[in-house]
Amino acid sequence: MSILLLLISVGYLYSNVNEYSHFNISFNKHFSIYHQTNFRHKEDTDEDITRTADYKTFDSFIDAVQYYAVNNTIVVASFDITYVSMALNLFLTSFRKFNINNHLFVASDHLGCAELLSHDAHCIQYMNLSISKSPSYFYEPDYNIKACIKPKIVLDCLKAGFDVLLVDVDIIFLKNPLPFISNYSDCDFITQIDPYFGDINSGFYLVKASSSGLELFTKIVEMINGTSKGDQEYVNDALHELGESIKIQRLSPELYQLGSVFFTEGNRAFAGDNPCTDCIIVHNNYIVSLEAKIYRFKEYGMWSVDIGDYYSDKTRKYIKYGNPIDFGAREEFGCNNTMEEFL
Ligand SMILES: *[C@@H]1O[C@H](CO)[C@@H](O)[C@H](O)[C@H]1NC(C)=O
Ligand SMILES: *[C@@H]1O[C@H](CO)[C@@H](O)[C@H](O)[C@H]1NC(C)=O
Ligand SMILES: *[C@@H]1O[C@H](CO)[C@@H](O)[C@H](O)[C@H]1NC(C)=O
Ligand SMILES: *[C@@H]1O[C@H](CO)[C@@H](O)[C@H](O)[C@H]1NC(C)=O
Ligand SMILES: *[C@@H]1O[C@H](CO)[C@@H](O)[C@H](O)[C@H]1NC(C)=O
Ligand SMILES: *[C@@H]1O[C@H](CO)[C@@H](O)[C@H](O)[C@H]1NC(C)=O
Repeated sequence: MSILLLLISVGYLYSNVNEYSHFNISFNKHFSIYHQTNFRHKEDTDEDITRTADYKTFDSFIDAVQYYAVNNTIVVASFDITYVSMALNLFLTSFRKFNINNHLFVASDHLGCAELLSHDAHCIQYMNLSISKSPSYFYEPDYNIKACIKPKIVLDCLKAGFDVLLVDVDIIFLKNPLPFISNYSDCDFITQIDPYFGDINSGFYLVKASSSGLELFTKIVEMINGTSKGDQEYVNDALHELGESIKIQRLSPELYQLGSVFFTEGNRAFAGDNPCTDCIIVHNNYIVSLEAKIYRFKEYGMWSVDIGDYYSDKTRKYIKYGNPIDFGAREEFGCNNTMEEFL
């Protein structure tokens, strides 16, 4: 027993001290940072970081969108530091796998991008939650719900004339969805649905920079102002108000699956169970907490984040135990995202 405990504690120390220092954070011209050049994870030390001066900088969020957009379309995934491993997993399993180079991760705090940039993902800092009067600051802290930053980011892109595919970071692509959803050329809003929660799931949608698309997101952002529901409720409410004036395509729930459909109803607990050859995306929702989402991805072989060579090192002979405490900030930011995590 004492030997086992020792191994566990060594593993735990390893995870605390070296989890991030493993990465050499070097920036090159493909990397992007907005108004922030000093990314550093709290465990990093000067020795761990290799930095070159020729990284890409942008004067504004929209400059970055313009730079990375292809066919006038930008694939946006917004996240904060608590979800950085999930964002990296989306990049590795989906954007990189399918060569989706018009992606842009959008971090809502100054620590978010470092890890992603070190993997050649595109990432930009949209706002700094800890500074109350920075240019992109979204409403007052007491009313600011992290999930509700998404519609604001989307609206900024639409106003600049770009179509947006918004992807929650707890999603995985089994096929590249772009060829399928680009096909609905006469629609303004093409979206995953959630029959258990009203109508629309606001974690995966393509919205066009048409007048109806702009009207929808202007309305959503207005509705969010000063309130603290999850963004999904606003998206559904706004669509309901707009009625027939916006052309919506609801995506097939069999091809664009919710977590409850894929994992639970589909009896998919472990890697290889009931492969879904038709599925285009899987949304790892309908499970509460970040840790549970990661655990579920790991069990089903959908987790590609290999911090410390955990999966790939051929010589290590231990199982690492990470104490599953959720350190995610919630009401600290006036943010009540408990429901949002569930969705
Ligand atoms: C980090 O960079 C240093 C200097 O370039 C190199 O010696 C070291 O092997 C690198 N570490 C990793 C983990 O890539
Ligand atoms: C963002 O906030 C952090 C923490 O307060 C601070 O260290 C950093 O300088 C800020 N970044 C910018 C660009 O204002
Ligand atoms: C851009 O549009 C062209 C022509 O429709 C298409 O072949 C190509 O795959 C599109 N690129 C992306 C990244 O969607
Ligand atoms: C796009 O639509 C056309 C016409 O309906 C269809 O023939 C084609 O198979 C569709 N492509 C995809 C990728 O769904
Ligand atoms: C949010 O509400 C405040 C106070 O009522 C108002 O001044 C501001 O213009 C609103 N912003 C948006 C985007 O509706
Ligand atoms: C968050 O939700 C809880 C439970 O619904 C509620 O008691 C609390 O006041 C909410 N906090 C904020 C900041 O909205």
